[in-house]
Amino acid sequence: MFFKRDKNKNTNDRPGLIVMNRPSSVISEQFRTIRTNIQYSMIDEELKTIVVTSAGPSSGKSTVSANLAAIFASEDKRVLLVDADLRKPTVHKTFNTRNNIGMTTLLTDRSLTLEDSIARTQVEGLYLLTSGAIPPNPAELLASKRINEIIEIMQQQFDMIIFDMPPVLAVTDAQIMASKVDGVLFVIPKGEVKKDHVIKSKELLDNVQAKLLGAVMNKVEKTEENYYYYYGN
Ligand SMILES: Nc1ncnc2c1ncn2[C@@H]1O[C@H](COP(=O)(O)OP(=O)(O)OP(=O)(O)O)[C@@H](O)[C@H]1O
Ligand SMILES: [Mg+2]
Repeated sequence: MFFKRDKNKNTNDRPGLIVMNRPSSVISEQFRTIRTNIQYSMIDEELKTIVVTSAGPSSGKSTVSANLAAIFASEDKRVLLVDADLRKPTVHKTFNTRNNIGMTTLLTDRSLTLEDSIARTQVEGLYLLTSGAIPPNPAELLASKRINEIIEIMQQQFDMIIFDMPPVLAVTDAQIMASKVDGVLFVIPKGEVKKDHVIKSKELLDNVQAKLLGAVMNKVEKTEENYYYYYGN
């Protein structure tokens, strides 16, 4: 799968939610292809929960997560985008929403329900669970028993749950979540990541028996698209 470098930057200089803002653009079309590939990647198994991660920082994980969530929602699915990057959360910024309640409050305050904690978006069918306040112990929270209960409830209420995570090589958060979900999508920023870092990341994901759905090649130049199409394990 590939996702081109966006040259038509929007006002705040980020590709942002391009599938919403420019649904007929080439990039939006690529996201529809990625959606189809994901659906076909696990045809016989249930695929409801997906972790999006990468080797290092600034690869496009959050951009890919948000656009993928929106593109699944546009297919009449009830989709929950979860900001599980409890270290550098951005979902609330992308969607311009509050972040006083979210993943961390839901994990630490048992009186809160998932329903209390999610926010609607302008996209029909797309809901957000933002990060909430940045906790001192993200990995511990993500490894808690409470999160298993919450994932269970999410699966009852949504068709698709997408977890935006920190990079694999930096901290254990993505590995922890990868072991709990149906599939992992790996983002590779073209030309910005070392091959051995990708290999090391795959090892770390294999160690927790994560099911790798495939990789999205991000920031691919327009003229290269046919040469950098990439998908699969
Ligand atoms: N295809 C693209 N074309 C141009 N800019 C992009 C593209 N994908 C991502 N970016 C930009 O690169 C930066 C990093 O993207 P993003 O925040 O999605 O990455 P990330 O992997 O979530 O980063 P972090 O590790 O900080 O969580 C952002 O400014 C984003 O707008
Ligand atoms: Mg991010």
